[in-house]
Amino acid sequence: MESLKLGSLEVWPPVVLAPMAGITNAPFRTLCREQGGGLFVCEMITTRALVERNAKTLKMIRFDPGEKPRSIQLYGVDPVTVGRAVRMIAEEGLADHVDLNFGCPVPKVTRRGGGSALPYKRNLLRAILREAVRNAGTLPVTMKMRKGIDDDHLTYLDAGRIAVEEGVSAIALHGRTAVQHYGGTADWEAIARLKEAVTEIPVLGNGDIWSADDALRMMRETGCDGVVVGRGCLGRPWLFADLAAACDGGDERARPALGEVAATMNRHATLLAECFGSEPHAVADFRKHVGWYLKGFVVGADLRRRLATSDTLADLREGLAELDAAQPWPEGVDAPRGKTHPRDRVHLPAGWLDDPYDLAVPCADAELDTSGG
Ligand SMILES: Cc1cc2nc3c(=O)[nH]c(=O)nc-3n(C[C@H](O)[C@H](O)[C@H](O)COP(=O)(O)O)c2cc1C
Repeated sequence: MESLKLGSLEVWPPVVLAPMAGITNAPFRTLCREQGGGLFVCEMITTRALVERNAKTLKMIRFDPGEKPRSIQLYGVDPVTVGRAVRMIAEEGLADHVDLNFGCPVPKVTRRGGGSALPYKRNLLRAILREAVRNAGTLPVTMKMRKGIDDDHLTYLDAGRIAVEEGVSAIALHGRTAVQHYGGTADWEAIARLKEAVTEIPVLGNGDIWSADDALRMMRETGCDGVVVGRGCLGRPWLFADLAAACDGGDERARPALGEVAATMNRHATLLAECFGSEPHAVADFRKHVGWYLKGFVVGADLRRRLATSDTLADLREGLAELDAAQPWPEGVDAPRGKTHPRDRVHLPAGWLDDPYDLAVPCADAELDTSGG
């Protein structure tokens, strides 16, 4: 296995923490980074909000002093704004890597032509990539996408070619269409097809990696140059230790007992409070992580509820102290976690599918004015 080369950046192991809005903030990235190496991408940042120096957005692109390389994911629909955002990152030294989001399936994004809707407009995609690469200086620019809008409107092979032609440094493919959302299983065959079609730059595979062995299997079966791991690490930063061990050829796997899990939960919530500068905000935000951390452990419904409804760090810590610290890591947690549902349709702007080549930039409000999805 080789390290992942993104322009002049070299990443070992070839493992990427998937950008996840509301999750992959600096505290969560710290917990993952401490487990093993890789590239840890921040939450999606809206290009318009960045160039307008929206205060919330500027907070979201803060990195810990020890974080290297610093990776920002941008979302944008307007080539000029994307170019300005990338230039700002490059000139002001805000990050070491820029990823572009063409995979987001949420209706508020696709209904405005953004995220996973955008690669259907080949020329608009090309214009965005061109402006991003042109303004990036020496920073590597990568793109993350889905297979297409649905099975009748697949775009990933065209998008892969366009990315190569425009000087993108790597492509990540989530093996689902937009309409699949998070339902069904990821199509690793499509990752293999993209890898066959794109030989000039690394292809990263994404979708349904729940264990280090899944990651090895994806690389073996698809030939991809690295993996992008999202939901599998929710409540489970230790997965990055497993991934690092597996890439080094080792078979040791992290199996923390509930006491260690509780200590990490406490640390996660404490880091969030420092990062947000607000304990109530941090404790409320942490609630969504509780079920993921406790997945598979035997914990009574009352205690689970208490932990997931704590109002203060003190409440949370009191609850954590009641967990049975000696309870071993449960079997069978290498299984789906987080969102798993499909959608029945993709919300698109009127007439979006009529012409795959028109270059009209979606309406001005297509860019959300805040970041984080
Ligand atoms: C809560 C959540 C938030 C996400 N936010 C983003 C995002 O901001 N940008 C992005 O490109 N993908 C986002 N994704 C998609 C993931 O990066 C990833 O592509 C997807 O979860 C499939 O990988 P997995 O099967 O390893 O989870 C998000 C996924 C989840 C579950």
